[in-house]
Amino acid sequence: MLDLILVLFALAILLLAVGLLQPLATRLAVPQTLVLAMLGVVLGLFVGPWQPVGLLQPVTDLSEGLELLNLTAEGFLFLFLPPLLFTAGLSVDVRLLREDMAAVLLLAVVAVFVCVLVVGLTLWPLAGMSLAACLLLGAVVGPTDPAAVVGVFKDIGAPRRLTTLVAGESLFNDAAAIVLFSLFVALLSQGEPLSFLTGLETLAIAFLGGSLFGILAGKLAGYAFRWVGRSAVAATSVTVALAYLVYILGERYVGVSGVVAVVAAALVVAVDGPTHLVPTVWQSVKTAWQQLEFWGNSLVFVLASMLAVISLPDAAGEDLLLVLLVVVAALAARCLVLYLLLPLIVLLRLTRPIGERFKLVIVWGGLRGAVTMVLALAVAGEAALPEEVRDFVALLAIGYTFFTVLVQAPSLKPILRLLKLDRLPPLEQQLRDRVLALSVEEVDRQVRHAAESYDLPSELAERVILKERPATPEPSMTEDDSLLVGLLTLVTRERELYMRHLHEQVLGRRLVASLISSTDRHRDAVRDEGLKGWLRSTAWVLQFHPPQRLAIWAQRRMGWRQPLAIALADRFELLLITRFVVGELRDYATERLAPVMQSDARAALLAALDERQRELDTALTAARTRYPSYSEALAARYLARIALRLEAVSYNRQLEEQLISREVHADLMRNRDQRSAKVSHRPILDLGLELAEMIDRVPLFHELPQASQQRLASSLRPGLALPDEAIVVKGRRGRRMYFIVAGEVLVELPGGKIRLGPGAFFGEMALLSREPRSATVRAEGYCHLLMLDDVDFREVIRRDPELRHHFEEVAAARRAGEQPKSSQPKEA
Ligand code: CMP
Repeated sequence: MLDLILVLFALAILLLAVGLLQPLATRLAVPQTLVLAMLGVVLGLFVGPWQPVGLLQPVTDLSEGLELLNLTAEGFLFLFLPPLLFTAGLSVDVRLLREDMAAVLLLAVVAVFVCVLVVGLTLWPLAGMSLAACLLLGAVVGPTDPAAVVGVFKDIGAPRRLTTLVAGESLFNDAAAIVLFSLFVALLSQGEPLSFLTGLETLAIAFLGGSLFGILAGKLAGYAFRWVGRSAVAATSVTVALAYLVYILGERYVGVSGVVAVVAAALVVAVDGPTHLVPTVWQSVKTAWQQLEFWGNSLVFVLASMLAVISLPDAAGEDLLLVLLVVVAALAARCLVLYLLLPLIVLLRLTRPIGERFKLVIVWGGLRGAVTMVLALAVAGEAALPEEVRDFVALLAIGYTFFTVLVQAPSLKPILRLLKLDRLPPLEQQLRDRVLALSVEEVDRQVRHAAESYDLPSELAERVILKERPATPEPSMTEDDSLLVGLLTLVTRERELYMRHLHEQVLGRRLVASLISSTDRHRDAVRDEGLKGWLRSTAWVLQFHPPQRLAIWAQRRMGWRQPLAIALADRFELLLITRFVVGELRDYATERLAPVMQSDARAALLAALDERQRELDTALTAARTRYPSYSEALAARYLARIALRLEAVSYNRQLEEQLISREVHADLMRNRDQRSAKVSHRPILDLGLELAEMIDRVPLFHELPQASQQRLASSLRPGLALPDEAIVVKGRRGRRMYFIVAGEVLVELPGGKIRLGPGAFFGEMALLSREPRSATVRAEGYCHLLMLDDVDFREVIRRDPELRHHFEEVAAARRAGEQPKSSQPKEA
């Protein structure tokens, strides 16, 4: 019992110390880990060889408590790894990560293997240790800590993509290194040699099994989120439980890698959390995790540094040389990855190239952090390992981490300066000035307004304005730069607008998350290619992407309507919201941006915005033409949500001004919430592909005898064509013909385009003549079609010579270039 009190006492003192030291790190602009390491060294003196004797009782107690704390190091893996990995997983931008996933995984996993091999093989001949022990050391120093590099990248405004790449790489290499770590520890403690194949198999099971298990658990947590509703404390508890449960269950019972499972679960929560939880609750969950991570990080660093000091007297000068060897090997491994492996991945088009200067920063910024320290502590406390292996690995790993924190971290900024990456790039500088100019105007306006409403003399306001106004930026900007700055401001504004709609709960979280990550892409595209990049990136939402194409395929081939209905509803909603926001952007650009831009740049920017607006309108018109009532329902839902928000704002204000009581407010809000629940679900899109109704709308079928009608009905299949889709491609083999039920298609002929409307058919010629398709036929907007497969077509015309004759007649006329009456579009 007394022991527990001593440990708690030591913990409390530690927390107080790290709490007070954290602001110091910020003030001195040094990495937090550096300050923590220093604290650990000082505390180590209390416990280690220079333990003070005969001092005050509390001091002796503290020293004893710290010593006890250190003895529990073997539990560290279980205590600290889950929170460290879980927070890391929560804080990466999964959407951006997904785009570079292949590259990140490859980089991370291969990088760890390279590090383990290079460090292991470099030390083996010189350290007098077994190869397995040297490889274990390689695994312990494998995980990189991205915090410093990410911080630096944010400071210098590097592309978001790079930050995600570095953070993602670190996340997965933590997992890979820890899996290898467990493998080597098992190898060393059991003493049996492991065959290469068994090792590989173990790794594969650990990885794949761990990922699957983690994803499953993360998904289950999603259900729990719905259950906990608006309670932030409950949601946080669920995530903390998730991190530990996944880890323990994975390691002990399921037989997969717990760390991989934690990482996978965290990524799933990072995606699902914002959509299943209310924004404020999700924010609280993230804040709670930052707190846990801070505690975990601090304790690990302090305790590991203490351990290093305690075992220092046993260390020889030789160990210092070995640490330097680790430094060189680890840097070499990182160089191999960035200068050999990365170009290869770029060549395979799995990712875009990274600038040379950024590469250097990533190499030198490959610091080691808490995860390495935890592994080192775990090795030190692992009784099953031979003692000399424990000392060797722990001391060198901690020594190396110290080196990265004491030498690499502080030199990162000077290196940036050397590489000229430290100053805001000219563009960023101009952007800053522009923002400054815009806000200054706004502030001036408000100051004048305030003076007016408080009845203060206007000279007073003018004086304040003159005094407070920062130097106005000089207008020496080229047209190109002016346009770039304008575009970047626009992208930032777009992002803000989405965020605002999210906070006001006008837009759903899933939708906003995807819109926001699309603005991140716009930003990188503008930086890379300027206006061209912006146009390309913003046009993305207009195109049909693989998931939507897959849904179309599933509808046509398998008759599955649901996926297509969801994909189209998603698209319509996305287009609608983007169009609203682009409208707002247009106003912003004319009112606020245009006045401060150079004239040509202004014209180009406004033209580009107009173009974007036009394209969105075209896409929306296509949707509205085919699905008018659905489009209206979507827009109405958006408006209803705005109304609900305004209503809540008004109730809250009245409560604040004490015009209504708490009870009345609660009652009003309950009533509002009930109505809000009604619009919380998006209406379901009816694709309008009911076979019987569709057949009914083709006049040609009415003219057929009853028996032929029935035969046709059983062979026709409904289908939807997307705007601009090439339904039939010239020169290809013909497999089916089409009847247009709604919408129009364009037949692309050498002499021009021919429009076919509802009631007309196409694709009959190739079936009749068995020759390749004579022309390409494209959908103009969404088209409802009835499709008749080749085999059924033959059967139908065999039984119905009159129909055959009709098809042949139309085909012959078409071939001759005239338009027979019966193929003219008829109104359905
Ligand atoms: P098919 O050759 O199978 O594929 C292209 C289709 O375009 C063709 O069948 C006809 O249905 C259609 N088509 C070709 N020429 C004309 C035309 N002059 N007028 C209308 N439709 C045509």
